[in-house]
Amino acid sequence: MHTELSFAPLADIETELLVVPAIDAQTAKGPDVKPRPVLLSADPALQSAANAVLESGEFKAGANETVLLHAPAGLTAKRLLIVGLGKQAKATVHSVRKAAGTAVRFAKPRGIRELVLALPMSPGLPEAPSARAVVEGAIVGDFDPDTYRSDRKDQSIQSLKVVAVADIDKPFVESAFAEGIVIAESQNFARSLVNEPGNKLTPSILGQRAAALASEVGLKAEVYSTEKLHELKMGAFWSVSQGSAEPPALIVLRYEPEGVAAGPVLGLVGKGITFDTGGISIKPSDNMEKMKYDMAGGAAMIGAMRAIALLKPRVRVIGIVCAAENMPDGKAQKPGDVQTAMPIAPDRPGKTIEIINTDAEGRLVLADGLTYARQLGATHLIDAATLTGSIGIALGTHNAGAFCNDEPTFARFESVLTVSGEKFWRMPLGEEYADMIKSDIGDIKNTGGRYGGAITAAEFLHVFVEDVPWIHLDIAGMAWIDEAKPYIAKGPSGVGVRSIVEWVRSYAQ
Ligand code: BES
Ligand code: MN
Ligand code: ZN
Repeated sequence: MHTELSFAPLADIETELLVVPAIDAQTAKGPDVKPRPVLLSADPALQSAANAVLESGEFKAGANETVLLHAPAGLTAKRLLIVGLGKQAKATVHSVRKAAGTAVRFAKPRGIRELVLALPMSPGLPEAPSARAVVEGAIVGDFDPDTYRSDRKDQSIQSLKVVAVADIDKPFVESAFAEGIVIAESQNFARSLVNEPGNKLTPSILGQRAAALASEVGLKAEVYSTEKLHELKMGAFWSVSQGSAEPPALIVLRYEPEGVAAGPVLGLVGKGITFDTGGISIKPSDNMEKMKYDMAGGAAMIGAMRAIALLKPRVRVIGIVCAAENMPDGKAQKPGDVQTAMPIAPDRPGKTIEIINTDAEGRLVLADGLTYARQLGATHLIDAATLTGSIGIALGTHNAGAFCNDEPTFARFESVLTVSGEKFWRMPLGEEYADMIKSDIGDIKNTGGRYGGAITAAEFLHVFVEDVPWIHLDIAGMAWIDEAKPYIAKGPSGVGVRSIVEWVRSYAQ
């Protein structure tokens, strides 16, 4: 997709589709109170072209509501699409992001391949963050998951222009726009990985894709397999892969900016189960096909590393993805087996883990991945994983879960969410939960029972990170969208990429 930012009057722009946002500025409440849509543009030609429809009461400027005008009077554009941002009091930059996605998803099925989006003009919506949000929303909205359809008609947008008025801080808006492109394309990169079926994206292929990306964007990449797992004594990670004909992949991506020798080292660790059958504790077949997305946490980390490589924040980052396939087999691990995780330090023995349920495999691969990140020098850790069905029971599909063992680290993470527009809800940790995973035969067991399943899973990881500041993102309920929204296709969401990138950037010196 060709993207461009320009500063020009909207009335003379030649385009198939000119998109302008509107808000509902009505503050009064009551059954007889009419909505009051206000076009967020200072352009008088646009105002008069839109006047009749705004007066009609047919269009309320609700969030992602659209109205289309053909041959709008006084404009050069062939069509004018007005997209609602919802109530003024609630409209944020994230509403702008969604509205841009809505416009793109409006255009695509109508065969419109080129569009122009007007930057909203409103005191509540600062220009630079809006420019970033518009282009992000548009690029994210352009993604469709129909990769393998033989009758696929490529409806993707070829050219996208964002237009702002001339009298604004251009360099500031331009750099925000450029960042938005990088971040959204990285999110889509993660989504394209998550969308791949298990037969097309094995652990080794995920490793190859990560390595190819790394050489493209200038990251160091190492991709290891079984031998390295044995060498590092990653008994927990290896136990998951042992039942599969597909070898595991330990993917390490490094971002080491020049001249940054001191300061924090951020460790990004992702769960990369390319297919999760549950293993011997096999899952029911209903919906099992969905378990191709069990590498969404790993994909989010690879996507985040892509954005980091291109945005170049001055902080060192290590990305680790633990990729394996969880299969039932004669060689697979069994309930009751005891595994020894990677030692946290050379002079400390690895923790022993009693396997209660082979379907609780994500925490096993992450245990060793987190330990390895520490060994490589990470001072702060963040992991992302489709770890538990339980998080979806707790939070539904509108918030992902976030766990953290360090208040300042969580405050920092929370503060980036207004920029990323992603929703994470903090979940508790606690000794009572940690007690639920004590084992009679070994140190810990890999499940803590039905109640508080997402929390006991987090406490399992906590055993391996100890006091290193750490955030755990359980994205199981959010990584796959079951029903299309006006601004995003159904399928892989790419959740996590934007927030993780922003969290990393917050550490830049
Ligand atoms: N990959 C699943 C979690 C999952 C469930 C992701 C639904 C996406 C949608 C994970 O490996 C798993 O199977 N977790 C079990 C843990 C249980 C056995 C303690 C679960 O949540 O049921
Ligand atoms: Mn599982
Ligand atoms: Zn899993």
